[in-house]
Amino acid sequence: MKVFVKFLSNGTGVLLLLGLFLLPVVGHAATLPATKPATLPATLLNTDCIKCHAQPPADIEAKGLAHKTAVGCQDCHNGHPPVVRKIIPLCSQCHEGTPHFALKNCLECHRNPHTPKVITYGKEVTEPCLTCHDSQIKQLREAPSKHSKLFCSSCHDQHGKIPACTQCHKPHAPEMTAGDCKKCHKAHMPKAVAYVNDQVKNADCGACHKQALTQLSASTFKHQSKSCTFCHADKHKAVPTCQNCHGEPHPQPLLAKFGTCGACHSVAHDLYKFAPAKKAAVPAPKAQ
Ligand code: HEC
Ligand code: HEC
Ligand code: HEC
Ligand code: HEC
Ligand code: HEC
Ligand code: HEC
Ligand code: HEC
Ligand code: HEC
Ligand code: HEC
Ligand code: HEC
Ligand code: HEC
Ligand code: HEC
Repeated sequence: MKVFVKFLSNGTGVLLLLGLFLLPVVGHAATLPATKPATLPATLLNTDCIKCHAQPPADIEAKGLAHKTAVGCQDCHNGHPPVVRKIIPLCSQCHEGTPHFALKNCLECHRNPHTPKVITYGKEVTEPCLTCHDSQIKQLREAPSKHSKLFCSSCHDQHGKIPACTQCHKPHAPEMTAGDCKKCHKAHMPKAVAYVNDQVKNADCGACHKQALTQLSASTFKHQSKSCTFCHADKHKAVPTCQNCHGEPHPQPLLAKFGTCGACHSVAHDLYKFAPAKKAAVPAPKAQ
């Protein structure tokens, strides 16, 4: 910003407009207005520009932001042809000292300096984004997935735009909506499936685990009222042991003899439910 200060202290109106009209403007006639301004000011002021240039003042008025409020035309355009030939400023005259300002080709994204925050960029952009966003690339690199191989701009094709997952993927079940995806997935580490317990519906797990869902839903025992994530807590593939919740409910010798809880209780999703071949070893089912 130091150079900017220098620019301001330069003063405005450095150019005699007279010269502009006295010299022939060969080749530039098309840019000139049909009628000349009625009065010719001795020096060129910011308010004069609009007399000959329609678009830049209109753009700045509509979307100039700080380029409207913090600087004037002549802070950037120092002089005017034909007296001064090169009057297009470099961005680095006023913006330097951060990694972002070390990028090349500022105008590739900031296409119009008169509307500085109207930003468009190409399809294969990653590195420039990292001058401001570093946590996202950390996630993409530390939890490698097929998303890590995409460009930031593959998904964020406009700055600030968040795409819906369903723009590129089918949901696991027809009744699942785009809003459900982030209950289980993070966009920048999609393979690390984790969730807040009880925010996930049993049917969402059931989209891939039909048998578990069917068994549990049809079961007549107390586990039936519990959600999948009550037991499979926090992250995908977490499997609890029965003892996590029940401790040691029976005398040790009994357990030692039968080995596993499942020998008598079958599976957690349907307690006491045994396949016919094993039936002989099963205690009488609990009345419910
Ligand atoms: C009387 C008409 C007139 C006025 C007033 C005028 N300009 Fe221009 N401007 C021109 C013409 C004609 C050209 C083309 C000159 C050339 O390229 O040699 C031009 C060219 C330019 C360019 C392009 C230079 C380049 O290198 O491509 C800029 C920038 C510019 N003017 C800015 C301004 C600003 C800022 C003001 C107000 C401070 C202003 N002009 C006032 C007529 C005008
Ligand atoms: C923050 C710096 C900045 C300010 C403020 C600024 N310009 Fe510009 N202007 C530029 C740059 C940079 C370019 C070159 C754009 C390019 O190469 O595409 C440019 C290009 C131009 C051009 C030539 C190309 C065109 O778009 O017609 C004109 C004329 C112009 N500016 C006029 C103005 C006027 C009038 C104002 C004030 C209302 C103004 N500018 C304010 C930076 C600025
Ligand atoms: C004559 C000085 C000057 C030049 C040249 C200049 N800028 Fe700026 N720009 C400023 C000032 C002052 C601000 C407001 C303070 C800040 O953000 O640093 C600003 C702000 C911005 C902003 C943020 C706008 C907002 O309101 O949030 C963008 C984007 C920007 N400039 C881009 C550019 C680009 C791209 C160029 C080169 C085409 C450029 N500027 C050239 C002075 C300048
Ligand atoms: C790949 C695209 C891209 C390129 C190249 C680029 N910018 Fe930016 N710039 C952005 C985006 C995106 C923002 C954030 C806009 C927002 O905050 O809404 C931004 C913001 C800014 C800002 C305002 C925020 C701040 O940090 O002060 C300035 C000033 C700026 N850019 C200047 C520049 C300059 C100077 C260059 C060249 C050295 C440049 N930009 C190159 C995309 C780009
Ligand atoms: C100059 C700094 C800068 C650059 C460069 C930049 N951004 Fe941003 N970005 C910001 C700021 C500031 C915001 C808005 C504040 C916020 O929510 O963090 C933002 C917001 C976003 C958002 C929306 C965040 C939300 O919560 O809604 C996304 C997505 C985004 N940027 C992606 C990108 C991508 C992709 C790139 C590269 C093409 C990029 N940004 C380049 C500064 C930048
Ligand atoms: C596969 C698509 C995809 C890719 C690739 C991607 N993002 Fe995102 N990004 C998203 C989605 C979707 C969200 C919204 C996440 C949410 O709502 O929980 C998001 C959110 C963001 C946000 C908002 C804040 C946050 O972290 O949630 C920023 C900033 C962002 N992305 C920047 C980037 C950057 C920078 C890159 C490249 C290094 C990138 N993204 C790559 C899809 C993607
Ligand atoms: C712009 C398109 C796009 C968006 C948006 C997008 N993805 Fe992807 N995603 C892809 C592509 C491409 C692949 C790789 C597919 C392949 O190679 O089979 C992928 C792969 C995946 C994978 C498998 C990862 C691996 O390494 O096996 C998961 C999980 C995934 N996406 C989830 C999501 C979720 C959740 C969202 C929303 C937060 C999302 N995606 C948004 C394009 C996208
Ligand atoms: C209840 C949690 C949950 C929800 C909600 C969820 N996913 Fe998944 N998703 C997973 C699990 C678990 C995997 C597979 C993990 C594995 O294969 O190890 C997966 C895998 C994926 C894959 C990789 C390819 C595949 O089909 O195996 C994509 C793509 C994907 N999900 C997209 C989505 C989208 C899009 C949504 C939202 C419509 C979504 N997911 C909602 C848990 C969920
Ligand atoms: C997109 C499909 C998908 C979704 C949705 C899904 N899973 Fe899975 N799940 C899988 C796959 C694939 C496996 C691995 C199967 C294998 O290794 O044989 C698996 C394995 C498991 C395992 C067994 C782990 C082990 O070590 O044996 C449990 C427990 C599990 N999932 C629970 C859940 C729960 C709870 C939900 C809902 C929060 C859920 N799953 C959602 C696809 C999914
Ligand atoms: C009361 C706790 C509990 C509930 C509720 C529960 N599970 Fe399980 N689940 C377990 C335990 C414990 C195991 C380990 C095998 C066993 O001992 O039965 C398991 C095993 C699994 C497995 C791997 C073995 C297999 O059967 O394929 C999957 C997948 C699974 N559960 C999915 C689910 C889904 C989906 C739901 C919800 C519909 C669910 N579970 C509800 C406790 C539970
Ligand atoms: C995450 C905790 C959790 C896990 C893991 C778990 N249970 Fe349970 N279990 C419960 C709760 C809660 C109840 C209901 C208690 C009540 O309502 O009194 C229950 C009830 C039971 C009952 C009584 C059933 C009835 O209908 O009366 C049996 C038997 C049982 N569990 C066996 C097991 C076995 C065997 C396993 C391992 C395969 C297991 N549990 C795993 C939490 C769990
Ligand atoms: C030898 C067969 C057998 C084994 C092995 C066994 N149980 Fe049981 N369990 C039973 C019987 C029988 C009951 C009583 C059923 C009834 O009351 O109707 C029971 C009842 C329970 C109850 C319900 C208690 C109540 O107050 O309602 C829980 C919880 C339980 N068992 C958990 C376990 C766990 C955990 C294991 C493994 C560490 C295990 N059981 C191993 C046979 C067994």
